[in-house]
Amino acid sequence: MDYDELADLYALQYENYRDDLEFYNGLAERHGGPVLELGAGQGRVAARLARRGIEVWALEPSAAMRQRGQAASAGLPLRWLAGDMRDFELPRRFPLVIAPFNALMHLYSAADQDAALARVSAHLEPGGVFAFDLYNPLLIRADGALRLEGRYGAAEVYYHQEHHPATQRLLTHYLVDESAEGGGLKRRHYTLDQRYYQRYEVARWLAGAGLSGDLYGGFNGESYQAASPWMVWKARRVS
Ligand SMILES: C[S@@+](CC[C@H](N)C(=O)[O-])C[C@H]1O[C@@H](n2cnc3c(N)ncnc32)[C@H](O)[C@@H]1O
Repeated sequence: MDYDELADLYALQYENYRDDLEFYNGLAERHGGPVLELGAGQGRVAARLARRGIEVWALEPSAAMRQRGQAASAGLPLRWLAGDMRDFELPRRFPLVIAPFNALMHLYSAADQDAALARVSAHLEPGGVFAFDLYNPLLIRADGALRLEGRYGAAEVYYHQEHHPATQRLLTHYLVDESAEGGGLKRRHYTLDQRYYQRYEVARWLAGAGLSGDLYGGFNGESYQAASPWMVWKARRVS
């Protein structure tokens, strides 16, 4: 999915989202850099690690997301790379590869998922760790109602969701409203398209690529339960 159109909305919505930062920072401090982030967006996580002196390589296909990230990370040990997680080749391996904040939900088919995991595996150092978080699909409540997501400066953001359980797809339709000249309304529409995962599907997917995964229900080692907000995975190469 192309985030170019969503880049300004993303900046407004998530500049203050911090729930996962200490988790990824702790892993980076434990495993050392450089860290490879897949789907690095605007550098929300990457810049945080880089500000702590950890070298980060940030792979991101959207030019608009990268440009915002680059502008905010000048002078930091953060290397921005234009690329797709399904098909990239870098000249080194990494002790830690991360994909924070549902980035893997932009892999829409088994072939895309396998291609990305093969690339991760090829770029992990022996004993290296692949860590990522996904929202818990058991909590999806898509009733189609239009809800206010938030007010950001002059913009009001509404959303409604469309759930397709047979294909594990969740579409979130955003309406971004701002006042227009002459008392009118300027409304923009964006759709976020995500293909979510079930727990045993992830475990089998990792095992198929020679990785063994541990699942947590939160960023502080909580056990995974039906009501957990997240599926947080830490996977290690075992073969
Ligand atoms: C939800 S954002 C997460 C951004 C960042 N990781 C964060 O935590 O703020 C998902 C990102 O994945 C990127 N993305 C989508 N498809 C991708 C692909 N095939 N390969 C790499 N990144 C992709 C999007 O452009 C977007 O920036």
